[in-house]
Amino acid sequence: MTNTETMAAGQTGARVPTTRSYLMCRPDFFTVSYKINPWMEPTKPTDTAKALAQWQVLYDTYVGLGHDVQLIDPIDGLPDMVYSANGGFVIDNIAYGASFTHPERMPEGPAYMDWFRSHGFDVRVPRNVNEGEGDFLLVGDTILAGTGFRSESQSHSEVAALFGREVVTLTLVNPNFYHLDTAIAVLDPIAGETPANIAYLPSAFDDRSLEILRDRYPDAIIVSEEDASILGLNSISDGYNVVIAKRAVGFERQLRERGYNPIGVDLSELLLGGGGVKCCTLELRRA
Ligand code: ARG
Repeated sequence: MTNTETMAAGQTGARVPTTRSYLMCRPDFFTVSYKINPWMEPTKPTDTAKALAQWQVLYDTYVGLGHDVQLIDPIDGLPDMVYSANGGFVIDNIAYGASFTHPERMPEGPAYMDWFRSHGFDVRVPRNVNEGEGDFLLVGDTILAGTGFRSESQSHSEVAALFGREVVTLTLVNPNFYHLDTAIAVLDPIAGETPANIAYLPSAFDDRSLEILRDRYPDAIIVSEEDASILGLNSISDGYNVVIAKRAVGFERQLRERGYNPIGVDLSELLLGGGGVKCCTLELRRA
């Protein structure tokens, strides 16, 4: 059995990991010098060397799992660039660029688009404010799209037209969970024989969105406020291995019960900027 065929018996059947390609950005210039989400406290000191060491563990974890990890050069003065999930949304080799809400992050949009262009992606310049995979999650064949704090709902229609896929708008209501990827974890990103599943924090959504989630994902993992409050949901799954925040022990147990293989990493320093595992990872879907 090869790495990509490793089988794991779980309650809902065998989990099969597939090899992924990710884009990451070293936190060489990481700090918290402005506040654009409730997690950020510019007066609190940050430790860039520690951020780098923790980030390196995440990078090494992906490589160890057999995934391809690409790197974009960090830019001095853009401390949030480490959160590459916000750099775009990539499916079928098409890279939908990001257009940031806050002026502090706006230069990241073109920087990421330049990278996509020079690496052979078909780049589409966005017409609406959106923060990439922070608010767009591919679950099976469906795109779950967040709004409420960052991405404008008009970007959802743009993405639907661009990728020709179903886009489901979900409204976030708690400022601590300002991006969709802080409130939902995609567990089985690729449509397979078993329906793609998710994990989520119900209180992060308005009633209408919650109804949609309950209806579409009756078997979803419901995480505790405690685990979500350390961005436990901000995780990356390859269909079997799920890289999560080390301190999210309840979520870890829930994943194990369902036949996934949770792998805990400590990104405490990057949490000071309001980001976790998923925020530091952008999936590059070539096909
Ligand atoms: N400081 C960054 C911001 O507020 C954190 C981004 C986190 N990224 C994510 N995909 N949730 O924009």
